[in-house]
Amino acid sequence: MNIFVLTGAGISAESGLGTFRDRGGLWSRFDPARLATPEAFAEDPDTVHAFYNLRRRGVCDAAPNAAHRALARLQAALPARGGRLFLCTQNIDDLHERAGASDVVHMHGEIFRARCLSCGASHPWRANLGVATACPACGRAGGMRPDVVWFGEVPLHLDAIDAGLAAADLFVAIGTSGVVYPAAGYVAQARRRGIPTHEINLAPSDTAHVFDTAAYGPATETVPAWVEAVLARPRSP
Ligand code: APR
Repeated sequence: MNIFVLTGAGISAESGLGTFRDRGGLWSRFDPARLATPEAFAEDPDTVHAFYNLRRRGVCDAAPNAAHRALARLQAALPARGGRLFLCTQNIDDLHERAGASDVVHMHGEIFRARCLSCGASHPWRANLGVATACPACGRAGGMRPDVVWFGEVPLHLDAIDAGLAAADLFVAIGTSGVVYPAAGYVAQARRRGIPTHEINLAPSDTAHVFDTAAYGPATETVPAWVEAVLARPRSP
C-alpha cells in the first residue's frame, strides 16, 4: 500500500514549536505580511532575519516527538509490504528527519537552508543569517535569505508531490488546518482519484468535510495509534 502523508505545524506542536493559526499561534502574535513575504524581506531584511533566526534556534532546541517517530517507523516498514510512504510536509523544521524519516518533501522549504539571491545557490545553514552574511558560493554579501517559501511564492517539489498523489492508495493529513493551498487541496485531489482519505488533527480542519474518516486528538497519541493499526493489518497478497 502506497500512503501519501501530508503534515503541518500540528505534528510539531508537542515538540514545543508553535503552530500558526491556533489560539496564541505565530500569526496571532506576528503579522505574516511583515515577516513572511518577499516584499517584507526587501523592505526590512533585518526584521525578517531576526524572526527566522529565532525560529531556527527554536527548532535546534526542539526534539522529535512520538508522532514523528511513528511516521518514520511506518516509512521503514512499508517497503517490506510492497508499499511506500510519501512524506510531504509544510513544516520547515527537520523533526521528521531527526526522527529517522528520509526523502522528506519540504514544500515550504527548510529553516536549515539559506539561499543566495545573487547566484541562486542554496546552502545548508544553522547559523544566524543577516544582511552582512556572504554567500559561500559567490561571496557576495547582502543577498542571503532563509530558503523557505513565503506567502506569494511558489511551493517547492510540486511535480514530485503530484506524482506521489498519483501513486497513492491512501491519503492522510496530519496536523494541518487545511487553509493554505495547494496543500489544502490535496485531499480533494485524492478523493477525485477515488482513494480513501483520513484526517488526523487536534480538531476538525477547514477541509474536515472532505475526508472519509478522521481521528482527533494530540498527534503524539493519534499518530502512533494510526500507524500501529496500519501495521497490524494483514499484508496484502
Ligand atoms: N496534535 C495534532 N494537531 C494539532 C496539535 C497537536 N498537538 N496542535 C495543533 N494541531 C492542529 C490544529 O488544530 C491546526 O488544525 O494543527 C493545525 C495547525 O494549523 P496551522 O497553524 O494553520 O498550521 P499549518 O496548517 O501547518 O499551516 C500551513 O501556513 O503560514 C503557513 O507556511 C505556513 O506551512 C504553514 C502553512
